[in-house]
Amino acid sequence: MKDTYILGIESSCDETSVSIVKNGREEIATVISSQIDIHKDFGGVVPEIASRHHVKNVTMVLEECMEKANMTMDQIDAIAITYGPGLIGSLLIGLETAKTLAFVFNKPLIPVHHIAGHIYANSLVKEMQFPLLAVVVSGGHTEIIEMKDHYKFKKLGGTLDDAIGECYDKVARVIGLEYPGGPKIDKLAKEGKPTYKLPVPLKDDSYNFSFSGLKSAVINLAHNEEQRGNPIREADLATSFQTVAIEAITTKVRKAIEDKGIKNVILAGGVAANQGLREAMTNLTTEMGVDFTVPPMKYCTDNATMIAAAGYYAYLDGRRADMNLNSQSQTELK
Ligand code: KG4
Ligand code: ZN
Repeated sequence: MKDTYILGIESSCDETSVSIVKNGREEIATVISSQIDIHKDFGGVVPEIASRHHVKNVTMVLEECMEKANMTMDQIDAIAITYGPGLIGSLLIGLETAKTLAFVFNKPLIPVHHIAGHIYANSLVKEMQFPLLAVVVSGGHTEIIEMKDHYKFKKLGGTLDDAIGECYDKVARVIGLEYPGGPKIDKLAKEGKPTYKLPVPLKDDSYNFSFSGLKSAVINLAHNEEQRGNPIREADLATSFQTVAIEAITTKVRKAIEDKGIKNVILAGGVAANQGLREAMTNLTTEMGVDFTVPPMKYCTDNATMIAAAGYYAYLDGRRADMNLNSQSQTELK
């Protein structure tokens, strides 16, 4: 069978990225331009600034990727683009770039949902086995999705309020750590003990999550300790928080594996980089005799490799967009 080369573009938040992937499983070349250092001073991503940097960077990132791959556009079979969800201004820059390439070089345009991208980061690691359970944990999402085949997504549950990554970043801010605080909490959590008592969120029978109560509990605890003149033991707070946050995830994953006869669990999204969560999921799946896949760190945070990989399976599924495709800041995975 002829090889298929998909060029993917990702610009939904603060990373401008272009990648070429062969047959959905083999990375040929990827370039990522991150704006973390620019947004750090503001304690989070400033949408308007992010859009401007995407405009400034996207052509360079594209050219660099083509050069790295040593390929020309006529060797590319289709253009995959993140159409949503994300920051609307940021998304539009990638979308217009993708549309221009598709139009000028007469290539099919493949719409890719950002979460499908995070999920398919795993196909770069290992062939997916179905029925599969995708545990999506990122700055904007906390969802568990059942897949009976490629590109057949069924959301079992999700967060009722904050996403887990958002919660990590807020807790980090309470401790005085710089944005993005998630990785810093993860590191700190290795040094502490779970001595602070925090509530385990949403212990119910659903597949849903809730993180706003946990976030408030950490804020209140820090505030009360400050009022009493007790210095916060930062590492202990990080460990206490991480223990409860991970337990909230693994409890629901265990239930889904039992209920749905899952063969393969995959972890996806920025928080999949979390060492504590990776360990807890490895232990859980080993205990339950289920295959577990997690992308290497570089595929966990936003990148276009995952978009090109997902784009390949979307392409096989017959998904195409035309020049009317628009970016969507909020959109369900389907
Ligand atoms: O997937 P991503 O790059 O962007 C979204 O689509 O949201 O995820 C970013 C999120 C941030 O909240 C960041 O703090 C979190 O992932 N994150 C982590 C770790 N690495 C990144 N959270 C906890 N532990 C980590 N090691
Ligand atoms: Zn993401």
